[in-house]
Parts: sequence; structure tokens; C-alpha cells
Amino acid sequence: MNNLSYFVVFCLLATLSHAIEIDFCVGDPSLPRGPQGYGCKDPAKVTTDDFVYTGFRGEKTPNNVFGNNVTLAFSDVFPAFNGLGISMARLDFAVGGVIPVHSHRTSEVLILVKGSIIAGFIDTNNTAYYKRLEVGDVMVFPQAMLHFQINVGKTPATAFVSLNGANPALQLTPTALFVGNLPADIAQKITLLSQKEVMRMKRLFGTS
Ligand SMILES: *[C@@H]1O[C@H](CO)[C@@H](O)[C@H](O)[C@H]1NC(C)=O
Ligand SMILES: *[C@@H]1O[C@H](CO)[C@@H](O)[C@H](O)[C@H]1NC(C)=O
Repeated sequence: MNNLSYFVVFCLLATLSHAIEIDFCVGDPSLPRGPQGYGCKDPAKVTTDDFVYTGFRGEKTPNNVFGNNVTLAFSDVFPAFNGLGISMARLDFAVGGVIPVHSHRTSEVLILVKGSIIAGFIDTNNTAYYKRLEVGDVMVFPQAMLHFQINVGKTPATAFVSLNGANPALQLTPTALFVGNLPADIAQKITLLSQKEVMRMKRLFGTS
């Protein structure tokens, strides 16, 4: 074998022999976050409460323009997820409320616990997969796909989701286009919308 082959074999073994050295790494969000997440909180100071998230308790009032209330349990608010490659969110919908088209860095699995929603995603071939879900139904949205949920029932609706990353991010397409620092004229050009429509969107979000 030449040197390169030895190097390749070495790298392979180094990867395969990667052992799990610690039981958990409850994140310390006061430390800088790297690609693998936060540094660990001192294990001697970790208690049961670090592994319990209470932020999903109670009623969530949907009072934004979309008629939703999204409660994220990502590793920055629930640091027990740090390093485990999982996270959660609770989605509450007013009657007619929506989670507009958005994506994450990860896949997502949703379970509907109240009401009835249409959930769906659109793949890179522009094929839409969507269905009306009833309580107890589970739907999966593959990694990075654009997806959405619409409350089509006569009552408020609630769903819980889990994502296979501790910090999966939530990028809402309308927010990215009309709430961030993208100038209105560029938003207009890249969406082919009229100036009137772009200004209507910006007014809706209070950014004009
Ligand atoms: C979500 O619900 C909580 C609890 O009712 C409320 O404090 C919060 O303002 C709501 N957020 C949105 C965006 O509707
Ligand atoms: C891609 O989309 C086209 C047009 O809708 C459809 O005919 C085709 O079957 C799709 N291909 C795949 C692999 O889904």
C-alpha cells in the first residue's frame, strides 16, 4: 500500500472507532456554539430538571398574522437536546390559521393532537404531497423540503413535531422575503410579484 492508502485506512478506522465518551452533554448556552452544538454544562451541576421542558404547558394563543403560535424547543431553550440530534416544537392554530411555507435543516415528524389540518411538503421536482390529517395522524416531512400546515377544521388545532437536529432552524419563506433586510425592489424582481403586492406583504409584517 502507498502512503495515501495508509492514510485513507487510518481515517476510516478513526471514524469507525469514534466511541461515545460521555452519557450526555447538557448544553451551556452561555458558551459559544460550534458546528456540534454548545459546550457541556458541568455534569456535577446537572439535575433532573435539565431534562424536563415545561414550555409546552397551557394554552397558546395564536395572535400573529398567520393565526399560529409556534413554541420551539430547540437546544437554545432546552439545552438537554444539545448533541442528541433531536428537538421538538408545539404548533397551535387559530381557526383558519397556517404555518406558512418554510423549511429546516433536518427532517420533521408531526403528530396532530387536536383539530384537523392539511399538512404537506413540496419536493425538488415541485411535486406536492399533502393530505388532510385527523387527530392521531402522523406525517413526515423529509429533510430541507419546503412544507406547510393549514387549519381546515372548525376548531383550533394543535400538533407536536420532532426534528432530527438539536438546532434545526425554522426558515419561513414569506418572512425571509418580506421581513428581513432584503430590499423591496429585489424581493419584487426575484418573486415576479408586483410592487403593490410586495408593499402589501411588507405592510402586513410591519416592515414598510
Ligand atoms: C403564544 O401564546 C402565548 C401564551 O398564550 C403568548 O404569550 C404569546 O404571545 C403567543 N405568541 C404568538 C406569536 O401568538
Ligand atoms: C416530476 O414532475 C413531473 C411533472 O409534474 C412528473 O411527471 C414526474 O413524474 C415527476 N418525477 C418524479 C420522479 O417524481
